[in-house]
Amino acid sequence: MNQTVQNLLQPYKGILAADESTPSITKKFANVGLISTPELNKKYREMLFTTPDIEKYISGVILFDETIKQGLGEVLSDKGILVGVKVYQGLEIFNDTEEKVTKGLERLSERLDIYKNLGAMFTKWRMVVKISDVYPSDAFLTEDLGRMADYAKLVQEKGMTPIVEPEILLDGNHTNTRCEEITTKTLKRLFEILKEKSVDLTNLILKASMVIPGKESGVIVMPLEVSNSTLRTLQNSVPTEVPLIVFLSGGQTSDQSIFNLNEIAKLNKDKKFGPWDLSFSFGRALQDEALVAWGGKDENVKSAQDVFLEVLKKTSSARQGEL
Ligand code: 13P
Repeated sequence: MNQTVQNLLQPYKGILAADESTPSITKKFANVGLISTPELNKKYREMLFTTPDIEKYISGVILFDETIKQGLGEVLSDKGILVGVKVYQGLEIFNDTEEKVTKGLERLSERLDIYKNLGAMFTKWRMVVKISDVYPSDAFLTEDLGRMADYAKLVQEKGMTPIVEPEILLDGNHTNTRCEEITTKTLKRLFEILKEKSVDLTNLILKASMVIPGKESGVIVMPLEVSNSTLRTLQNSVPTEVPLIVFLSGGQTSDQSIFNLNEIAKLNKDKKFGPWDLSFSFGRALQDEALVAWGGKDENVKSAQDVFLEVLKKTSSARQGEL
C-alpha cells in the first residue's frame, strides 16, 4: 500500500482539518470576538499543533495556503505528523443555477510543486452537493466530479496522495432516505469518473459525509441509524480498492460527530460492509471548544491545549469504536 496512506490510517489516529480559508477563519474568529489576521491565525494554529501528545491521535493535518507558507508544516513534521494542504480555490456558479462548482485547476500544477517543496504529502479538494427536490442535477455532478478527478490525477502524477471530498451539505429539510439516495448517486458517479480518468484508487482517500437528514427537517437520528445508513451507502458505492475513508463533521455538534463515528466504527469492526479503514478528518468538531478556551490570549494556551487534547482522545477512541 502507498506509504502516505499507510501512515495516515494508523489505528487511534485521524486527520485534523485546519485548512480554513481566509473568509472561513475570519467568520470563525468573529464568532468568539476575534479579528483574523495572518499573525493571529498563525498563533491559533501553532497553539493547536504544539499541543503535547497531539501525535498520538493525529496522523495528518490539512493546512491552508497561508499556513503552509508560514512554515507551520515543520512543527508537524517534527512530530511525525504528515502535512496536507487544501488546493482548490473556492466555488463558482454553475450554468446560472443555484449549484456551485469548485474551482482551482488553473495553475494547479505549479502550486502543487510549491506545496511539495514545503513538505506536503497529501492534498484536499472539496466540492459541495446541495440537496433539494431538484438538485443535484446530473450536469452539475458530471462537471464538478470531473474537475475533482482531474485534480486527483494530477496530484498522483506529482507523487502525492489526493483526498477527494464530495461534501453532501447538511442544509435543507431533506429526509435521511433522500440523503442516502443522493450520497450513493454522487459517490457512484465519482468512482465511475475516477476510473474513466485512470486515477489510482489505491492511492486515494475518500472524505465522506455521514448520512443524516437535513438540518431544517427537525429530525434527529440516533447513532445506530446513522451508522447503518452511512455504511450501507458506502458499501453500495465505494470500490473495495479504496484504502481509507475519513469522515467530516459537516456542521454536526462535536458530540454528534464523535458518537456517530463511534457507532460507525463499531458496526464495521469486522469489516462486513467493506474492507476500507474508517477514520475521521474533522475540522469544527475537533477545534470549536479549543478556540473558545483560547480566545486569542497567550495565557490561555495551556488550558486550550488541555481542552483540545480531551476532544482528540475522545475522537480517537470513537475511531476505534471504543467509546
Ligand atoms: P468539518 O469537520 O468542520 O466539516 O470540516 C472538515 C472539512 O475539511 C470540510 O471541508
